[in-house]
Amino acid sequence: MPDPKIRVLVAAEVEHFLQYVGVPPDVEVEWIAADEPVPEGDYVGLLPLLSRRVDVAVLDRLPKLKVVANYAVGYDNIDLETLRARGVSLSNTPDVLTEATAEVTWSLILGVSRRLREAEDLARSGAWRAWHPTLLLGMELHGRRLGLLGAGRIGQAVGRRAVPFGMEVVYWDKLAQPEFEAEVGAQRIESLAEILATSDVVSIHVGLSDETRGLIGRDELARVKPGAILINTARGGIVDEEALCEALESGKLRGAGLDVYEHEPEIRDCLKQLHNVVLLPHIGSATEDTRRRMFELAWANLMRGIRGAPLVTPVLEGSKG
Ligand code: DGY
Repeated sequence: MPDPKIRVLVAAEVEHFLQYVGVPPDVEVEWIAADEPVPEGDYVGLLPLLSRRVDVAVLDRLPKLKVVANYAVGYDNIDLETLRARGVSLSNTPDVLTEATAEVTWSLILGVSRRLREAEDLARSGAWRAWHPTLLLGMELHGRRLGLLGAGRIGQAVGRRAVPFGMEVVYWDKLAQPEFEAEVGAQRIESLAEILATSDVVSIHVGLSDETRGLIGRDELARVKPGAILINTARGGIVDEEALCEALESGKLRGAGLDVYEHEPEIRDCLKQLHNVVLLPHIGSATEDTRRRMFELAWANLMRGIRGAPLVTPVLEGSKG
């Protein structure tokens, strides 16, 4: 009798990318769609999308699980404590999506500061009558201050792109980033209140955790520089959306650019109704190249994890060898 195959459960939505990797002969892939519950079974590896919550209920069904290879850099969908307690490893997909996410962040910065959404609506509507000196005046970025909340890989990539736009870059992060400071002339600001009060564009680049949930709430929004712009391409739960709507409605904030939401895929009506907001459906990493590289990396982690080998990009190295 041949040895039984090593069974892995992989998000069905990434099947397109399987053509770029090889499936070893001793591995059996089973696909699971995002809306399907995790089946019970002797699966050794799981490659989920960021929309799948991996918690006690899921782990109870997968007693043989050794590795979760998350198809995302963020891993707020994973119950870390339960994985740790059960000796299960976890990996994410850093680096490969940095530039794509920085590009979308800048699309939002430009789109909001120059009111592209309203401008496009007007251009298509047939209501545009003539060139006018005060038509759709926006905020010039040159000479303004970009405040990065978080200066990890993505925050830094966003900051680097600010230099050719002639913006001053400041950042708020637990860790000082001396190389980034030297490269872009960025300055670290230790107080959240200060960076909010002095930045013309605030862009969020921290992960979602117990520490950062609701980081930007009513009090923080009351402190932002009047007329500033808020950009969030990190995670929805970092911003209190109700308070954000109020800040946008009152004009305290000039506008916002959002790629992520508290309860995806739902987007609050108040956000949808506002003209000074650009809304995207969580497409920060959505380029063909990046999504393929994310799969290759997640797959490499999955293949290592099922054999108890060190992961390429570990978040947690579990004890189940
Ligand atoms: C991530 O990877 O965490 C992004 O939100 C999706 O690419």
